[in-house]
Amino acid sequence: MARKPMMAGNWKMNNTVGEAVVLTQEISNQYDKEWPEALDIVICPPFVDLKPAKTVLDFDRTKIAVGAQNVYWEPKGAFTGEVSVPMIKEIGCACSIVGHSERRELFGETNEDVNRKVKALVGAGLYAIVCVGESLAVREEGATEKYVTAQVRAAFAGVDARDAARCVVAYEPIWAIGTGRTATPEQAQAVCAAVRATLAELFGAETAESMRVLYGGSMNPGNVEGLMAQPDIDGGLVGGASLKAESFVQLVEACR
Ligand code: G3H
Repeated sequence: MARKPMMAGNWKMNNTVGEAVVLTQEISNQYDKEWPEALDIVICPPFVDLKPAKTVLDFDRTKIAVGAQNVYWEPKGAFTGEVSVPMIKEIGCACSIVGHSERRELFGETNEDVNRKVKALVGAGLYAIVCVGESLAVREEGATEKYVTAQVRAAFAGVDARDAARCVVAYEPIWAIGTGRTATPEQAQAVCAAVRATLAELFGAETAESMRVLYGGSMNPGNVEGLMAQPDIDGGLVGGASLKAESFVQLVEACR
């Protein structure tokens, strides 16, 4: 089954509202005449930039989707500093990243937290971009596939196939994030294939074949083609290279 590629930009903690409006306009301007129907484009700015970015995209009538970088699983209440799914939904977000390795490592997010967030998102009609990936120590132990597939199982525990089918998995080896050290296409393909095999065990072959599995970790215009040529890599979740319109658009074009 042919899957629609996806290029998603994770801005992380970059761009004030003013900067976000400029970058969103620059990206949007590339697609105001011709929309690349053949792929999905998502930008994931910080929370404060979500509404301004969505406003720019709606004004420009581009179909670039906006997603959050994180979300809390409870809909409302005394959870100081958190942002809920209904809040990002009202802004018009299509999705949220969950389980990014920076959330797991720096903010103590567990597999159980990731699972709660996935359920909250799909329950509200949004989808999750579920991040999984191993540390260098895990890779050197030879335990990468076991570790990553366990993260996939935990993230989707209790999620039904119909909801899972709308979700996306992003394989991001921690040792490749922001380091300039990309996984080789073969390394990335091997883990993405293992992710898909796990999705097939959980949800059946047809659903697994329909789900997008992205690669993330120092993806850039110089290495995107080799990664996209792999049969189980359906796009990218990009950090650094999504912060300049020129490089992000080059990545989008490489996915067409
Ligand atoms: O979410 C994106 C990943 O952490 C990759 O970031 O492209 O800066 O390595 P990077």
